Amino acid sequence: MSDRLFIFDTTLRDGEQVPGCQLNTVEKIQVAKQLEALGVDVIEAGFPISSPGDFNSVREISKAVTWPTICALTRAVEKDIDVAVDSLKYAKRKRIHTGIGTSDSHIKYKFNSNREEIIERAVAAVKYARKFVDDVEFYAEDAGRTDNEYLARVVEAVIKAGATVVNIPDTTGYCLPSEYGEKIKYLCDHVAGIENAIISTHCHNDLGMATANTLSGVLNGARQVEVTINGIGERAGNTSLEEIAMILKCHKGIGIDTNINTTKICPTSRMVSSLMNMPVQPNKAIVGRNAFAHSSGIHQDGVLKNVETYEIMNPKDVGLDDNAIVLTARSGRAALKYRMGVLGIKIDNEEKIDKIYKEFLKLADQKKEVTDDDILVLAGADRADTRAVSLDYLQVTTGKGFKSVASIGLDISGQKFEEAATGNGPVDAAVKALKKVIQKKMVLKEYTVQAITKGSDDLGKVHVQVEYDGNLYYGFGANTDIVTASVEAYIDCINKFRIK
Ligand code: KIV
Ligand code: ZN
Repeated sequence: MSDRLFIFDTTLRDGEQVPGCQLNTVEKIQVAKQLEALGVDVIEAGFPISSPGDFNSVREISKAVTWPTICALTRAVEKDIDVAVDSLKYAKRKRIHTGIGTSDSHIKYKFNSNREEIIERAVAAVKYARKFVDDVEFYAEDAGRTDNEYLARVVEAVIKAGATVVNIPDTTGYCLPSEYGEKIKYLCDHVAGIENAIISTHCHNDLGMATANTLSGVLNGARQVEVTINGIGERAGNTSLEEIAMILKCHKGIGIDTNINTTKICPTSRMVSSLMNMPVQPNKAIVGRNAFAHSSGIHQDGVLKNVETYEIMNPKDVGLDDNAIVLTARSGRAALKYRMGVLGIKIDNEEKIDKIYKEFLKLADQKKEVTDDDILVLAGADRADTRAVSLDYLQVTTGKGFKSVASIGLDISGQKFEEAATGNGPVDAAVKALKKVIQKKMVLKEYTVQAITKGSDDLGKVHVQVEYDGNLYYGFGANTDIVTASVEAYIDCINKFRIK
């Protein structure tokens, strides 16, 4: 008989805090539905007081999702809790996640307070939230650096006040696995009433120990884990859902099960990566492009003789389809639609599929084979349709021994603009021409070109960071022509500018 571990997914809250990864409500609903199909128990849908967009997303996800509990984050502040309660109005199962910093540095520098007052505020918040919902989770922010004796007092007090789940975040990713495990064990052994609540882990990956710490917490008594798809999240990210799910599946001896349908892991990973324009590192465990690729001769020889020699998991168990059909210019609309489904892209609107198919045919004319990555990019480009500024044409003359010259045509809300400029290289010339049309004081802060992996005809992907009016904006572009991809990434930023 195995124990059940609850999976609390915070891709749409902690994960979405990553700069440049913000999703709109429609995209968040798409992710939430995929998380439901994946089998997560709790979806942390947002921090409703933080913005009207977050409030709206929690509300719409509550309507769209049936089975998982929908959770909303708050500070230990009544107004936050009121707004969260309102946002959860339509949720079939709802949870408020409230809390406060408990480490000495948070108490002193963040709250200018003292330990006793923090306990009072924590208890008051939990009691207040319990007036509206039966399921209240309390987080002790920076619990990783909170001394165990005091943490036990906080946890005991909030359970007494009605907390059903107690979250022990290693907010800064500082703990060692042994230390974090001991912390959870200490709480199990020293908190009166601990059997009335579920202990939750919430580990950040600043030192690369998030998954190890989470596992150590589980082995010492935690029965909920807070995780994100692809491990995205603040700074170095959170614990990856896929890593915890597969560790428990591969190590049956641990005797702990989750409700995760692991065959949905890769489609979910790709959907999140595509919607957030956040590439997954190729060697990322479970979901990276190379996670199941054996390249050395010795490994290939072993795998061909018997896959068990070098493979501890079956790629099919994580939803990797090794019979992937290769799409070419001769592939039909149905094949494209099928492949999008495998990749977790669900588009019901036939008109949109037609549009993506047209773009697909154009790309397939330029390339021999259209890869899964290309399809994700094509589907992503379709989402950019409604933006005010778009690129009509771009022509660049460049070469050794003379200055590059670019001429550009833009469509801004239906009006046509043209400009030309010279520059120090093709990207510089194109961006200068773009700036002549846009005429705003914007500064390129970061420019990253993702390596072309599959031949010189592959799509080049560009991420840029642009500063405008004191704010940073993140943009993404993809094209077989890297200069066009660069300009499209810049235009992606411009479309996000908040004009005062
Ligand atoms: O890392 C953290 O401490 C958090 C809390 C708000 C739960 O994300
Ligand atoms: Zn966090």
